[in-house]
Parts: sequence; structure tokens; C-alpha cells
Amino acid sequence: MTDVLVWCNGSLVPAEDATVSIFDHGLTVGDGVFETLRATHGQPFATRRHLERLHRSAAGLGLQVPYDDGILREAMREVLASHDLPSARVRVTVTGGTAPLGSERGEGAATVLIAAGPLASPSPSAAVCVVPWPRNERGAMAGIKTTSYAENVVALAHAKARGAVEAIFATTTDLLCEGTGSNVFVGIGGRLLTPPLTSGCLAGVTRELVLEVTDAIEEDIPMAAFLAADEIFLTSTGRDVQPVHQVDDRLLSVPGPMTEAAARAFAALQASTPDP
Ligand SMILES: Cc1ncc(COP(=O)(O)O)c(C=O)c1O
Repeated sequence: MTDVLVWCNGSLVPAEDATVSIFDHGLTVGDGVFETLRATHGQPFATRRHLERLHRSAAGLGLQVPYDDGILREAMREVLASHDLPSARVRVTVTGGTAPLGSERGEGAATVLIAAGPLASPSPSAAVCVVPWPRNERGAMAGIKTTSYAENVVALAHAKARGAVEAIFATTTDLLCEGTGSNVFVGIGGRLLTPPLTSGCLAGVTRELVLEVTDAIEEDIPMAAFLAADEIFLTSTGRDVQPVHQVDDRLLSVPGPMTEAAARAFAALQASTPDP
């Protein structure tokens, strides 16, 4: 069996030998960004869009990614080749590097890590729970995929304690925002809607592709409308298009017709090209 490799600051190394400093700013203050891609039989999906978002996120934190995309693509390929997984997640992490023990960034180079692991098939539908904490759509980190995910960790634990598998955030003005690791689409009166990026949601790659292959439109969605929606689905790299069968105590029959059509269109796109 091949050793599982990771890519650490330019070198491919056995996973158990990879190390980062305990002074890494990603570790000490969450000063970092990341991407998660789905790979099928070693082939990552939508790499161009994920790398574009990685650069946008890094720019949002004032970080430079010190490797070009060709190098990152090749590194992902090599890491995946050491795994032999039919379905994998590839994670690219870029942090502020070694720094003093405070919020100020150090002089060191960014830390860049690439690792992969198995990705389980999504369950056919999901129960979600609205959490009591808002996403700050006006915050400095709104829409940026940072490694500061503790808010998501707490929200997901809250949802899981209530029997749900995803937590849903509203904005500070009580509009629908997103899940901890997913975007949200709703069918209301025959229209398919998803919150605009001004809600503070992440510009999900799956969201973007679903917007391109369906008639969905971006529109502000008050939480009251979300709670009464005819159908709801989540999108993410790990879930693709996942129908929602329960929101808090309310049950929905799944999949709704718009959800079914979106899932079909997205699956067709995935089958047609690895890098849409
Ligand atoms: C906060 C958040 N929103 C949405 C998404 C969905 O994005 P994508 O479709 O690119 O996986 C993610 C992905 O992990 C996320 O972390």
C-alpha cells in the first residue's frame, strides 16, 4: 500500500512526517483561508473556480499564495494519487505563516498545505435547524472562506443536538444567509431563489454552477419566507444538491420538483466536464 502523502510548503511528504510551527498564525488566531474540492478517482472537480476563490479569500485577508495555480494543481494530483480513493475531498489551506503570539502577522512566508481524505456520499436529504446567532454580512470576513470556522463549529453542534445535520444562519437583518458549510436555495410560488452575496454568504462553487444551469435567481429572502418555503435544498461540494426534508419542526416532502430539476441539471454538468 502506498504511503499517504500531503503537500507541505512545496514538498510532498508522508502525512505522518508533515509538520507546521506551533507559532503558525493559522493555528494561533485562525489567520488563514482554505478550499475543499471533490475529487472522483483522483480527478478534482471545478478546480479553476476553487483556485479563483482561494485567491479571492487570500486577498481578502491580505495574504499572497506563494505558488502558482499550475503548481497547486500538480500538488493536488500527486496527493490524490497517493490515496486511491473513488471519492475524495482535497483540502488546500493557506495561512499567514509563523508569527508572534498576537493578531499582528509576522514576516514569514505563508504556510501552504494540501491534504486529501475520503468523502462520504451525501445522505439523500437533510434536516436543518435555524440557529440563534446571525452571520454578520457587514463583517470584514463576510463571504471569505477563512479557517476561522469556530462559529460554524458551535452552530453545527447546536443543530446536531436538535437532530439536524446542518445549521442555517440568518443575517443581522433577518434575511436568509447560508449554512455552516452550504448555500441554500428555496422554491417559493414556482420561483427558485437563493440569497445574493450581499447576504454575506460564501460564493459557493456549487451555488454558482446551480445558478448557471437552472432558472434560479438571487434575491433577498426574509427568514419568514424561508420558513414557509415550498421546497428547500442545500448546495455544497460535499452535498451537491441536497433536498431539505425538515426545517426546525416543519416537515417538507422531498424532493420538490425544482429541487429534482436542479439536481438533475447539476449532475449532468458534473458528468460533462471536470472543470466547468
Ligand atoms: C460557509 C460555507 N458556505 C457555503 C459553502 C458551499 O460552497 P461550495 O459549493 O464551494 O462547496 C461552504 C463550503 O464548504 C461553506 O463553508
